Amino acid sequence: MDVVRSIADVRGRVLAWRAGGERVSLVPTMGALHAGHLSLVRRATSDASRTVASIFVNPTQFAPNEDFATYPRDEARDLEMLENAGVDLVFAPPVEEIYPDGHRTQVEVRELGKILEGEFRPHFFIGVATVVTKLFNQVCPTAAVFGEKDYQQLCIIRTFVRDLDIPVEVIGGQTIREQDGLAMSSRNAYLTPEQRAIAPSLFAAMSACAEKVADGADPEKTAAEASQAITDAGFDSVDYVAVRDAETLDAPQPERSMRVLVAARIGRTRLIDNMAV
Ligand code: PAJ
Repeated sequence: MDVVRSIADVRGRVLAWRAGGERVSLVPTMGALHAGHLSLVRRATSDASRTVASIFVNPTQFAPNEDFATYPRDEARDLEMLENAGVDLVFAPPVEEIYPDGHRTQVEVRELGKILEGEFRPHFFIGVATVVTKLFNQVCPTAAVFGEKDYQQLCIIRTFVRDLDIPVEVIGGQTIREQDGLAMSSRNAYLTPEQRAIAPSLFAAMSACAEKVADGADPEKTAAEASQAITDAGFDSVDYVAVRDAETLDAPQPERSMRVLVAARIGRTRLIDNMAV
């Protein structure tokens, strides 16, 4: 496995593979890797002859009051995990390679980027859409794999890829969970043992909500009950529990698939999760 840090190097390597008829799959990450990330790598390696992973903690998707400076970073450990998982090439650029002086352009998916997560993190999806667009143009992959764990992020990526005619196939990978249901996340490392014991109640409340709505319960009333259950379990606050159309993330419509999406805070940690109804 090789590690490259410049756009010219990653693009050169990938274009040479593609000229030889190979299918190249990209797995973008911010590092601090766990089994969820590795499941995306497995998905990529099973789908393509070459797998590229990127490690870049993207400053533009963090607000000034968020955890950019303290976000967990351990490149040596990440590289070992990626090598063992069969990755061919890692792109781990420094910030100046991605955002040189004078960088001005942003990618914004209107409406979809302002609801749910976007309401609580107003610049987040502009940062994500901009960096993922850049990664696609830098790496030139055939396909890219993203987790359903960040469901609204996946919807936004699918939307700008379609709207901007970007020739990358977007693949969604299912959420990998701990045995007690807690979705794996790099930010779980912030939880104290007491908070870690409370954290699975987010999954429990979300699952109960999805089950009741599937059985015909009123989505809004059921979401409010789930929100109360999360607070009762010991979370400090709930940003949202929402039952939405699985594709548009608008209000649910009869005969269409639905998704439950949740975000809640425990201490200084914000956890998000979602599941199909
Ligand atoms: P990061 O949080 O490192 O996540 C990288 C990828 O792993 C994302 O596609 C995310 O949805 C997926 N992922 C995280 N936890 C998962 C789990 N438990 N099961 C399955 N997949 C999981 O998401 C980002 O980085 C960034 O926003 C990025 C897309 C790299 C742009 O900066």
